[in-house]
Amino acid sequence: MTKRFQYHFEPKKGWMNDPNGLIQYQGVYHAFFQYYPHDIKWGPMHWGHAISRDLLHWEEQDIALSPTQPYEDDGGCFSGSAIEKDGKMYLFYTSVSHALGQTQSLAISEDGLTFTKYDHNPIIQHFPAEDATKDFRDPKVFVYGDEYRMILGTVYKGCGRVLQYRSKDLIHWEYMGVLYESSDYHDVIECPDLFPLQNRWVLLYSKIEPGDRHVQFLIGNFDGERFTPHSTLLPERGPQFYASQTFLSEDGKRILISWFYDWMREPIEGSTSAGALTIPREVYLDERGHLCLYPVDSAKALLEPLPLDNSAHKKAGVQISASPDSVKIISRHATPQLYEGKVEKVEVLADVKAVEVFINNGKQNYSVWGH
Ligand code: FRU
Repeated sequence: MTKRFQYHFEPKKGWMNDPNGLIQYQGVYHAFFQYYPHDIKWGPMHWGHAISRDLLHWEEQDIALSPTQPYEDDGGCFSGSAIEKDGKMYLFYTSVSHALGQTQSLAISEDGLTFTKYDHNPIIQHFPAEDATKDFRDPKVFVYGDEYRMILGTVYKGCGRVLQYRSKDLIHWEYMGVLYESSDYHDVIECPDLFPLQNRWVLLYSKIEPGDRHVQFLIGNFDGERFTPHSTLLPERGPQFYASQTFLSEDGKRILISWFYDWMREPIEGSTSAGALTIPREVYLDERGHLCLYPVDSAKALLEPLPLDNSAHKKAGVQISASPDSVKIISRHATPQLYEGKVEKVEVLADVKAVEVFINNGKQNYSVWGH
């Protein structure tokens, strides 16, 4: 028997990767996710679906999207996002087909449980060849002024890029150009997300580097056309945290959920499922302007403080020790993680087979599998 998480969402069976379409809709939290129901490894993508009333206890629902259409006959329904308009939930995703490659498609729901693909999908049929390559995916849609914006990740001439579109009706999209280009990341930008946070803007994206996958955060300015970073950071350094997406809760909090898995790991023998969602975190800037990722209120009771005395604590198969100037995290599923710097507080959220470690109120975190 393989162990199941107590607090982290994981599907009953099958493979999952990125969280998709995160939204609070009619009071209920919805998390969709990249899903392959027929095996515990990646396959043609569906959107799995789970709902929650407290962001801690999730109930798995029927599959929301399956790759049934010719425009998704290759990789299926890749990552994307959700938004509400006139009481309906709109899901945007990258449809991947043999004929068209990566295009962007739409499905609409009136009840948050059943989803109908738009008749004239794909709504964005061609990538802008002057600025992008065929890797053109992971639409994140948000409201900006009196219109909608969509950002997507790509790579062009060896630079990761984020592209931007605008729309008045969520159906017709006009290309605006390059929102951001990275000078130091040379592969495709995956799962970009852009949002205001207090008086700043945050752009985050997932990057694949040899042996290393991380979520890069940039804090800066967005003038409606371009994003200009002022600082870059990796608030989460755990090796098994990827494809973060955020949404705004009805009470105005910016909540982030990530895919919690080790892409490089062989499927675990005897498991019926692979992959999980991290504990949702609130994203905020503290009084000194530091970006923090800290568990949502409903998960705070699960946090255990560790003494800063160098003693070793074994939790969910992970060994953690802390002192006033360092934190060490050792697991057989990851290279040893060492944080060096001033340590004021270390808290651990341990759940059956993994831990999430929060240092200094979420300024630096490590999510690590132990079993
Ligand atoms: C990130 C990613 C996305 C893509 C999806 C496919 O993990 O590669 O860019 O949409 O997974 O499952």
